[in-house]
Amino acid sequence: MTQPTDRRIDKLVQLLVKNATVVVPGSKLADEIKVPLHTVYYWVHKLRELGVDVRGIRGNGYQLRKLPDILVPSLIYPQLGANQIGNKIIHYFRTDSTNNVALSLILEGASHGTVIVAEEQMAGRGRFDRTWYSEQTSGIYTSVILRPSLAPASAPILTLMAGLAVHHAVTEVTGLVADIRWPNDLMINGKKVCGILTEMSAEADRIRGVVLGIGINVNHRQMPSELAAIGTSLRMEGGRDYSRAQLFLTLLKKLEHYYRMLMDGGNAAITERWAMASSYAQAKRICITTRSGVFLATTVGLDPSGALCIRRDDGQEEKLLAGDIVEAK
Ligand code: BTN
Repeated sequence: MTQPTDRRIDKLVQLLVKNATVVVPGSKLADEIKVPLHTVYYWVHKLRELGVDVRGIRGNGYQLRKLPDILVPSLIYPQLGANQIGNKIIHYFRTDSTNNVALSLILEGASHGTVIVAEEQMAGRGRFDRTWYSEQTSGIYTSVILRPSLAPASAPILTLMAGLAVHHAVTEVTGLVADIRWPNDLMINGKKVCGILTEMSAEADRIRGVVLGIGINVNHRQMPSELAAIGTSLRMEGGRDYSRAQLFLTLLKKLEHYYRMLMDGGNAAITERWAMASSYAQAKRICITTRSGVFLATTVGLDPSGALCIRRDDGQEEKLLAGDIVEAK
């Protein structure tokens, strides 16, 4: 597996940001982060590949021309305050899947609120064994480790909680109108802009750790042809670029907010808000794909656990705990 970002690269970004617009001698940067000059040269090159606009002035030094939109911890921590979620952020320039990293970290004892974030994923995973398209520095690819003292059967409500947090963060930062398709796909103009993959490490009666894997298409200019009919990005819908750093920060704050709400107010606090944020909670005509086939139904609410209550067209009532649904046209 690839390695997390060297913390000295993070320090380099921090120094460039602190001295933004002035020319900082390479030797000064090298001394401060305690690496040879040629390593600074190599790392600046690496940052440029991520779109960080650093000008090199021969014999003089480096100058950051505009604030970088990368998700390194040193740029996020100062604004996170006392947030438990994000108290430790592990950044990767590239990894296979942030969920894979998070699941192994749970086994190594990572604490509640640890967040893994990558600029690019080589094997991003979606629900139902799908892949998640993870173009470099265009999206947010993050996994949040939670350690709730809940029974494994409570996992669905954590999934809804995460969807609510993403919905709130995206609408606040972009002003776009978004819907949540049960259980937690964020939809804009009928196309998916964010997906969440919740995975769990559990014993028989106790959750050891939950991973909320969140992928948001932010500044993608287009989607690959096979996704174009069903997927979109915030940029494609809003017609402008958005700051990934601002959205990531807001997301961590909203996750903290709704997680506390769940712990303090119980499931109803989440299901009530979810039902207000989603057109899928009531009277939505949907098409459901299950192992036994595809059928049509109408939604009739959420039950306290977060299951979606539906009435099938043959009259049968059911509660969906998991599943793949789309709006019936
Ligand atoms: C879905 O199918 O809708 C869920 C997509 C989840 C994608 C995110 S990106 C960050 C995290 N790492 C992964 O490999 N998957 C999740």
